[in-house]
Amino acid sequence: MTRAQAQDVVDLLLQQHEQIRSLFAQVESADGERKRDAFHQLVRLLAVHESAEEQVVHPAARDGAGDAVVDARLHEEDQAAHVLSELYDLGVDSPDFDARFAEFEQAVLAHATHEEQEEFPMLRRTTDPDRLRRMAGAVRTAEALAPTRPHPAAGESRASNLMAEPPLAIFDRLRDAVRDWRQSQQD
Ligand SMILES: [Fe+2]
Ligand SMILES: [Fe+2]
Repeated sequence: MTRAQAQDVVDLLLQQHEQIRSLFAQVESADGERKRDAFHQLVRLLAVHESAEEQVVHPAARDGAGDAVVDARLHEEDQAAHVLSELYDLGVDSPDFDARFAEFEQAVLAHATHEEQEEFPMLRRTTDPDRLRRMAGAVRTAEALAPTRPHPAAGESRASNLMAEPPLAIFDRLRDAVRDWRQSQQD
């Protein structure tokens, strides 16, 4: 078994939480094109990450963590997708962007901390390790279908100003793909 196959879904999600924290810091420390690029990477990663959690991880956590905890996380993810869409519409150059982005960061990082403290440890305790490894397929499925980064050599500035798909369309598409993947599994 390769190392990648041995990673379970919680390993992958925890790695992504670190990448998410790092991208927030990059957006905050960059300007212009680099800021926009980091923001678009954040949109992409959050769409991959939250789709896998919503469709596969939270449902599996319901029994152990309880409905109240899972429903709270789902609500936060739904809110986050809409705020992300508003930030995208605003654009990184808007004078209002930084303040709203800082609020968004606080909400997303609090959400991730809740998952790390309340949900993931319980999921590891109550779920068969083989099943947790299979569930990593949800993250890989979303990752494989997420938009690729625009090629800088294309020299088209508009390509980096706008993503080919707006954030909510990416979230919807990846959610559907992970749902199809889940339904194809005989779990
Ligand atoms: Fe989440
Ligand atoms: Fe998460």
